[in-house]
Amino acid sequence: MYVADDKRYDSMQYRRSGRSGIQLPAVSLGLWHNFGGVDNFEDSRAMLRRAFDLGITHFDLANNYGPPYGSAEETFGQILKKDFLPYRDELIISTKAGWDMWPGPYGDLGSRKYMLASLDQSLKRMGLEYVDIFYHHRPDPDTPMEESLGALDTAVHSGRALYAGISAYNAKQTAAAVKILRDLGTPCLIHQPRYSMFVRDPEQGLFDVLEKEGVGAIVFSPLAQGLLSDRYLHGIPSDSRAARNFFLKKKDIGAATLARVRALNEIAGQRGQTLAEMAVAWVLRDPRVTSALVGTSKVSQVDDNVGALKNLKFSAEELRKIDGVLAGK
Ligand SMILES: NC(=O)c1ccc[n+]([C@@H]2O[C@H](COP(=O)([O-])OP(=O)(O)OC[C@H]3O[C@@H](n4cnc5c(N)ncnc54)[C@H](OP(=O)(O)O)[C@@H]3O)[C@@H](O)[C@H]2O)c1
Repeated sequence: MYVADDKRYDSMQYRRSGRSGIQLPAVSLGLWHNFGGVDNFEDSRAMLRRAFDLGITHFDLANNYGPPYGSAEETFGQILKKDFLPYRDELIISTKAGWDMWPGPYGDLGSRKYMLASLDQSLKRMGLEYVDIFYHHRPDPDTPMEESLGALDTAVHSGRALYAGISAYNAKQTAAAVKILRDLGTPCLIHQPRYSMFVRDPEQGLFDVLEKEGVGAIVFSPLAQGLLSDRYLHGIPSDSRAARNFFLKKKDIGAATLARVRALNEIAGQRGQTLAEMAVAWVLRDPRVTSALVGTSKVSQVDDNVGALKNLKFSAEELRKIDGVLAGK
């Protein structure tokens, strides 16, 4: 039987999501990869246990995480039942709908029909009565925002979710969405954008909107899917995400990228960190970032990513050097 480490709250840092009552761990764990039906169940279970033992109280899912679609929620549901049910009230569990999930016109994008049916399916797969956060996974240009966000409001008011979130909405769409949700009486808790040293789009206005509106930011792929680590310094390991050549493509690991990774790796070394640790610390240097949402394929990566918290401070000189590397200087 799993018994959680009684020191689990000793060293993790928690940050408030915007101006809400919810605090999230500075590092959260996402189940996009390595928790599907094709993956080893005991490996997935070991990562979740280790994460919770280190104070990671937030696990992020979506309807179509797997593969196959839905299977990460099923795996999570089984592990929840075996290990985490006594700790349900210590956990923030999120799921999403917005990308392709089932065939036909009602299994994708942003209709009320799709989103609420999807949430019911997710709850069933995970064996939950409610999720803590239900997200619209991406804006749907062909559905009125009021409809998609109205579905989030219904999810919350019907007790199927405690909070509403959005993902991949740009700054302008976010400002509009936050107002619609507020008017409905379901404030937007959090936004989930992609953000890392390699992808800095949220700095162009999104973070400003979130700060002004008091909405949190949980940033995904802070390691750029593993590129911002020592994983690819000596080729493409056969057990790596790039080896699967699907979401992270082999062609993305060209000479110019590797030169940057090497230079960043050196800066990380001077800070006494691994590059993965520095990548996590770097996104957390911005106080508007509530949590760094990482993925892992091994327990040791969970440890390494949480290890980032030992050094979150950057000198102006270090930040200048990093900017220089990113600018290709
Ligand atoms: N809202 C959205 O649209 C959206 C989109 C994408 C992701 N997300 C969320 O964000 C989560 C994280 O995304 P992500 O998996 O792309 O994040 P990431 O942390 O940038 O990349 C995770 C991958 O990096 C490698 N890695 C992790 N820690 C490492 C370490 N310490 N040293 C060396 N390599 C390390 C592993 O790759 P290997 O497998 O090669 O070992 C791992 O699978 C997802 O699970 C999901 O919850 C949301």
